[in-house]
Amino acid sequence: MSIDVKRLSVRFGGVVALDDVSVRVDPGRIVTVIGPNGSGKSTLFNSITGLVPVTEGTVHIDSEDVTAVSAHRRIAQGLARTFQTPRFDPRVSVEEAVLCGFFPVSSAGIVASMFRPPAVGAQERAFEREGTAILADFGLEDLRHAALGELPMGLVRLVEVARAVANRPRYLLLDEPAAGLTRAEQMLLASEIRRVARSGVGVLLVEHNFGMVRELSDHAVVLDRGRLLAEGHPDDLMRDAAFVSTYLGSSHARHAATMNEESTHGAQ
Ligand SMILES: Nc1ncnc2c1ncn2[C@@H]1O[C@H](COP(=O)(O)OP(=O)(O)OP(=O)(O)O)[C@@H](O)[C@H]1O
Ligand SMILES: [Mg+2]
Repeated sequence: MSIDVKRLSVRFGGVVALDDVSVRVDPGRIVTVIGPNGSGKSTLFNSITGLVPVTEGTVHIDSEDVTAVSAHRRIAQGLARTFQTPRFDPRVSVEEAVLCGFFPVSSAGIVASMFRPPAVGAQERAFEREGTAILADFGLEDLRHAALGELPMGLVRLVEVARAVANRPRYLLLDEPAAGLTRAEQMLLASEIRRVARSGVGVLLVEHNFGMVRELSDHAVVLDRGRLLAEGHPDDLMRDAAFVSTYLGSSHARHAATMNEESTHGAQ
C-alpha cells in the first residue's frame, strides 16, 4: 500500500522537468517535496495525479500501475489534491466549496439526486454535518457564507485543503497549501495535516518554509532542476552540509549548526 513513483522523467519538448525521480508515500506518512522554483515539484504532483503524461518511469497506487490511467480514475482510487494556483468559481461560498468535496464519495448518482429519495436526503444531511465539522476544524466557520472571490488567496488554498479532506482520500497531495496564510492559520493547517496523516492518509506536501517542513515531515525529498538532490528525515538533511549550503544558504547553515548544537545539548 503506497504511492510509488519509480524512475520518473517528464519532458516538455526540450525542457526536462523531472529526471529519474523516485518517491514513495506510505499511508499515515507525511512526505515533503522541497526545491527551488522550477525544480519540478508541481510536475511531480501533476504526473502522480495524471495531469501530465510521463516520458519514462511508472506511477503505482497501492501496487496498481496507473501510469497510463486517467486522472478521473486515480481520484476514484483515493487521490485528492490541491493546486498551487487554485482554479475556482469566485461566486461559490466556502461551505459549498467544502461540500463539493463529498461528491466523489457520494453513493447517490446524478439521477438519484434529481429524484431525491429519502436515502439521498439523509446522506446530504450527513454531509452537511460533516462539512460543518470540517469547517470548524479548519477555522472557517465564520466564513462559511463568504464567496471564494472575496477571500485572500491563502484562505482559498485553505478551503481547497478542507475540500480535499472532505473527499476522504487515502492519499492527499497538497501543493504549497501554506502560501499566503498567517502564522496562526499555518499552525492550524499543520495540525490538520498531522491529524489527517494520523488517521492513516498518506500525505505528499510541497512546502517552502523549512521550519514547517521540519515540524511536519517524516521524510523530505529535495528536487533541483528536476533531479533528486537529496532525501531523508529533515533533521538528517540539516546535518548534510552540502544540502544546507545549496538549499538553505550560508546564513541558514550557521543557524542550522546552532540548532543542531542546541538539540544535542537538549538531548543530554
Ligand atoms: N505544461 C508545461 N509545459 C512546458 N513546460 C512546463 C510545463 N509545466 C512545467 N514546465 C516547466 O517544467 C519545469 C518544472 O516546473 P514546475 O512547475 O514543476 O516547478 P516547481 O518546482 O513546481 O516550481 P515553483 O516552485 O515555481 O512552483 C519548469 O522549467 C517549468 O517551466
Ligand atoms: Mg510548483
